[in-house]
Amino acid sequence: MSLLFNPIKIRSIIIKNRIFVSPMCQYSSETKDGVPNEWHLVHLGTRAIGGAGLVMAEATSVTPEGRISPYDLGLWNSKQADSFQPIVKFIEKYNSIPSIQLAHAGRKASRNKPWLGSNRLNIEEDGWDTVAPSSIPYDNNWQTPEELTKEAIANLISAFSKSAKYAADIGFKCIELHLAHGYLANQFLSPISNKRTDEYGGSLKNRSRFVIEVVKAVRKVIPDSIPLFARISVTEHVEGGWDTTDSIELSTTLKSEGVDLIDCSSGGNSPDQNLETFPGYQVPLASHVKKGADILTGAVGMINKPKQAEKILNDNHSDVVFIGRELLRNPYWPLDAKSELDGSTIWPGQYIRAIQ
Ligand SMILES: Cc1cc2nc3c(=O)[nH]c(=O)nc-3n(C[C@H](O)[C@H](O)[C@H](O)COP(=O)(O)O)c2cc1C
Repeated sequence: MSLLFNPIKIRSIIIKNRIFVSPMCQYSSETKDGVPNEWHLVHLGTRAIGGAGLVMAEATSVTPEGRISPYDLGLWNSKQADSFQPIVKFIEKYNSIPSIQLAHAGRKASRNKPWLGSNRLNIEEDGWDTVAPSSIPYDNNWQTPEELTKEAIANLISAFSKSAKYAADIGFKCIELHLAHGYLANQFLSPISNKRTDEYGGSLKNRSRFVIEVVKAVRKVIPDSIPLFARISVTEHVEGGWDTTDSIELSTTLKSEGVDLIDCSSGGNSPDQNLETFPGYQVPLASHVKKGADILTGAVGMINKPKQAEKILNDNHSDVVFIGRELLRNPYWPLDAKSELDGSTIWPGQYIRAIQ
C-alpha cells in the first residue's frame, strides 16, 4: 500500500490516510455573526465523502474583531458551537476526522470577501477597528491597528482557550492554531510587525511569548487525546524577517508545550515578500522543520498529483500533506488517488454506478 494511504496515529486519533483538507475560508456566514450554515456542511461534508483522512474547517475566529471579513466563521459563543455540531457529526459519520483551525486576523481583519475585492471595510460598512502587537498597518491604505494592551493580550489568550474548549466539547477531534499568513499570532512572531518594547517584543523568545501562552492555555482546556497542530509561516520571504531558523526554534518549543504537528506554510506578513510559487514550493520548509525540530510536519502548497504527494512522504519531507485548491476543484481527489496509487478504491455505495 502507498504511504499516502497508510494510516497515521497522532495521540489517540487514528487517521485513515495522510490527505488532510487544508483550511480554506469560505466567507459564507451570511448572517455576519460567525455562525456556520448549510454551505459549510455541504462544503466540508463533501470533502469527507471524497475520502480525505482529515477535514479542517477554515480559519475560525476566536473573537468578532479577529475575523478577516464579516462573513468569516467564529467560535466564541454557544450559537456558533451548536451550529458546528451537525458538521462535526457528518464528517465523523463518513469516516474522516473533523478538525478546526482557530484564528485571529489582527491587523489583517475587517476586509471584504475576496470575490467582492478584499477591500478594507470601515465601521459604516460593517467593518471594525483592528488590533495588533504594534500600531503598524500591513500596507499603505490598510487600517492602522491599535496596539494591544497587556490586558487585551490576556483577553485574547483566554479567547483562544475558550474557543478551543468549545471545539473539543462539540466533538472536533483535532485543533489547529493559525499562527501563519501574517495574521495576529504571526504579527507577534515577526520582527517586521512586532516593535513592542515589553515582554511580548524584542527577542525571539519575547516575540514568541504570545504564541506559547496561547498554546499553554489551549492545551490546558482540551483533552490529552486531542492532537494540536500549529500552522506557521516557516519563512516570510523578506530580508531580515522571520525565517526557517526561527521556525525550527519555535517548533522545538511548541513540541515541548504539546503541539503535535507543524503545518508548514509561508509568507503573508508583508506586501514586500519575495515568493515564487510552483508545484511543491513549500515542501523544503516542511522538511527543514521536520528534521530541525524532530516533530511531525505537514507539507502544503500546490501538491496536486497523487504521485507527487506520495514522493513527498516517501522522501520523508513531511508526514502528511495538506491539500487546498485541488480539493476545491475535485473533492473526490483522494478516491482517485487511491485508485492511481494502490490499484483500486472504494467509492461510497451511493456513487457506485458512477464507476460501473
Ligand atoms: C479559498 C482559500 C481560502 C483559504 N483560507 C485559508 C484559511 O482559512 N487558513 C489557512 O491557513 N490558509 C488558508 N488558505 C491557504 C490554503 O490552506 C493553502 O495553504 C494554500 O491554498 C496552498 O495550498 P494549495 O496549493 O493546495 O491550494 C486558503 C486558500 C484558499 C484558496
